[in-house]
Amino acid sequence: MKASYQSLDLRGERVLVREDLNVPLQTRLSPKTSAEGAAAEHSQPAGDDRIISDDSRLRAALGTLRDISDRGARVIVMSHLGRPKGRRVPELSLRPVARRLAELLEQPVAFADDCVGPLAEEAVARLGEGDVLVLENVRFHRGDEDNDPEFARELAALGDVYVNDAFAASHRAHASVVGVAAHLPAYAGILMLAELEALHRALDEPRRPLVAIVAGAKVSTKAGVLRFLLPKVDSLLLGGAMANTFFKAEGKEVGASLVEDEALDTAREVQRQGAGKLELPVDAVCARAAEPGQDTVLLPVDGVDDGWMMLDAGPATVRHFAERLHGAGTVVWNGPVGVFEIPEFSEGTRGVGEAVADSGAYSLVGGGDTAAAVAALGLTGRFSHVSTGGGATLEYMEGRELPGVAVLRDRV
Ligand code: 3PG
Ligand code: MG
Repeated sequence: MKASYQSLDLRGERVLVREDLNVPLQTRLSPKTSAEGAAAEHSQPAGDDRIISDDSRLRAALGTLRDISDRGARVIVMSHLGRPKGRRVPELSLRPVARRLAELLEQPVAFADDCVGPLAEEAVARLGEGDVLVLENVRFHRGDEDNDPEFARELAALGDVYVNDAFAASHRAHASVVGVAAHLPAYAGILMLAELEALHRALDEPRRPLVAIVAGAKVSTKAGVLRFLLPKVDSLLLGGAMANTFFKAEGKEVGASLVEDEALDTAREVQRQGAGKLELPVDAVCARAAEPGQDTVLLPVDGVDDGWMMLDAGPATVRHFAERLHGAGTVVWNGPVGVFEIPEFSEGTRGVGEAVADSGAYSLVGGGDTAAAVAALGLTGRFSHVSTGGGATLEYMEGRELPGVAVLRDRV
């Protein structure tokens, strides 16, 4: 286990905290004419026309930020937002995120227009005990993703202690995640430890039976997860469009369904490895296109005709999966089993989600679209742990050590 900052006396210290404040943003729909809108845009500070469509990552960061502030430290928050690739992209400013954070923290949050250099240094110098400052998007500098040692040194110079709470960004060996730990004592935050503990509990010391649901569009992106989970689990329920590739590998007719031809061999290998554990869908909601308003038919998975696509798990599949989930000790769920964004194809994911929630098992949900699916289908709050991680959770579930975790001190 990793060491928590909570054993330190942080009063007056400058604590440099990496959070993952990478939230989805939408452009505010302006009632103004486009000309007025454009003029107004120029007179506004960067990023002011953006609204946060899901603030769950900000809420997840509150525990650590509040606690460090309450300990009388000066809190300096680093994060990325989107992928600006080393350029200053006004739409990807963290300013509106800092404003939302202030509302959630119920305390003022200062903002620095740069994450290094004089603007950052002056903002840090103005902080009193308990104050919170958010630095501008670290990815406005190429040095973050490059893990440039000089950039890491400049960031680290802003703090006395480093706390990594950004589990969801810890698969990235970037300067603000990994590089700063070369210069400062490095500890885990509350969210980081909660994420690691949930994964450890589910995968290393599971109450059995351990049932995994692995779904999503592509076999290729989940092959590592399947290989790592199969030896650990008692059952693995596989769904989503990636199941189509397994059906084709078995010689079934899949009609116009999405198939990854280059992953047919991987599917056969996983089938062999998973013999006796692997469960595939038995029926599918099909349509001629993955669009709203289509006519749908329910077909068995070995009876999909030309022109039809499998787009969601059918009710027999949900029942079959629910039987497997009933009585499970632990469930790990990664990936929606259908095109949940479209109402016609969302019932499978809802049904599977409800079966997970009703199973009574310790349930861990995370990786990629799964947390978004849970929120969109109104299932929030019904699982033991919903990970904030996308790619990071997937890499953990491939058995890989996350570089942003590896640099943290171990608990003694
Ligand atoms: C995520 O959203 O998965 C993390 O914030 C990492 O973002 P990235 O994939 O752009 O590195
Ligand atoms: Mg990502």
